Amino acid sequence: MKAVVFYKHGEPEKIQIADVPQPKPAHNQALVQVKACGLNYFDLQVLRGPAAEGSPLPFWSGGDIAGVIAETGADVTRFKTGDRVIVNPSLYCGTCEFCRAGEESMCETYGIIGDTIPGGLAEYIAVDESSLMRLPQTFSFEEGAAVPLVFQTAWRAAISQAKIRPGEDVLILGASGGVSSAAIQIAQLAGARVFTTTSSADKVEKAKQLGADFCLNRNEGDYWAEISRLTNGRGVDVVLESVGAATWMKSLQSLAKGGRLVTIGRTTGRMVEMDVRLVFWSHLKILGSTMSNRKEFADVMKLVFEGKLKPVIDSVYPFEQARAAFERLAAGKQFGKIIVKFDQ
Ligand SMILES: NC(=O)c1ccc[n+]([C@@H]2O[C@H](COP(=O)([O-])OP(=O)(O)OC[C@H]3O[C@@H](n4cnc5c(N)ncnc54)[C@H](OP(=O)(O)O)[C@@H]3O)[C@@H](O)[C@H]2O)c1
Ligand SMILES: [Zn+2]
Repeated sequence: MKAVVFYKHGEPEKIQIADVPQPKPAHNQALVQVKACGLNYFDLQVLRGPAAEGSPLPFWSGGDIAGVIAETGADVTRFKTGDRVIVNPSLYCGTCEFCRAGEESMCETYGIIGDTIPGGLAEYIAVDESSLMRLPQTFSFEEGAAVPLVFQTAWRAAISQAKIRPGEDVLILGASGGVSSAAIQIAQLAGARVFTTTSSADKVEKAKQLGADFCLNRNEGDYWAEISRLTNGRGVDVVLESVGAATWMKSLQSLAKGGRLVTIGRTTGRMVEMDVRLVFWSHLKILGSTMSNRKEFADVMKLVFEGKLKPVIDSVYPFEQARAAFERLAAGKQFGKIIVKFDQ
């Protein structure tokens, strides 16, 4: 089968199309013929390396997968050949103390399809039946591939961890990011007033169309001062922080007393500087969040399939042009999800 592989870690020029062995589904797995695969920032991290344990080169990433079932293992009961599906990219053991408590994304051996094992940037992938969810006919494969990883991440961070309530003020950094464009919609649905930052005038407009009440261009002036002004010096109740080193202190400074910061990423670096006095004096709460458990995934997908949350697609590339898709992601030009499409 064809796959979008890299033989060496590095920048997008390392991406190429190559033939790799087609996987065979185990007894509890289905073979999915991939129709579309969404890129995430983590595809760049995986490409740049270093490799996660157990992922020898050549490797192919891809965690957001939509396709059709091509074959089923003997023990698969809920799906059959021809079913349209999306894949939950979470990998977990199912038996550790956290899995037993229903907290799969806290699993002791937690992994992600496309990072821990080769992903959906290939014509086929074998996945456990428990990872599959039916994709309604009303959704295209591209829309299906724009959702699973980012919406579950944004949902757990905003709803389960930050516990956003109606009337609260929420700051979401990097409006154009996959997770953030999902989070803007989720925070709106939860009844919050949404502040967001982005990097250009056209992205400001798109963020407002998505439902942001205020969108501040981070390249024009000090957004932290602007948030202070817009909240009459109070600050926001919640910050969803995915940027890391470049914004960490400003995120803390943007919070009202008792505010909650949920950290979900580190696009600009994972080592941050922090004034602890600000944290204890303002009674701030710092919470971590990664992906979601199965219940949260089902909850957010229900809202997507009901049309209350919408996939945000930036662009669609044929898989032969996957390198250009990676280049667009690396340049930060996108608003929403970049999708790689397999015409098969
Ligand atoms: N914990 C988890 O489960 C989980 C899951 C998914 C992703 N993540 C992490 O979350 C982060 C975002 O992922 P993603 O896939 O949504 O990424 P993405 O689509 O690449 O978006 C990242 C966005 O961050 C913004 N940004 C970049 N540099 C910035 C800076 N210096 N200051 C402020 N904003 C900046 C940009 O938005 P603007 O141009 O609009 O400013 C960019 O579009 C990554 O670090 C990723 O590893 C974590
Ligand atoms: Zn586990």
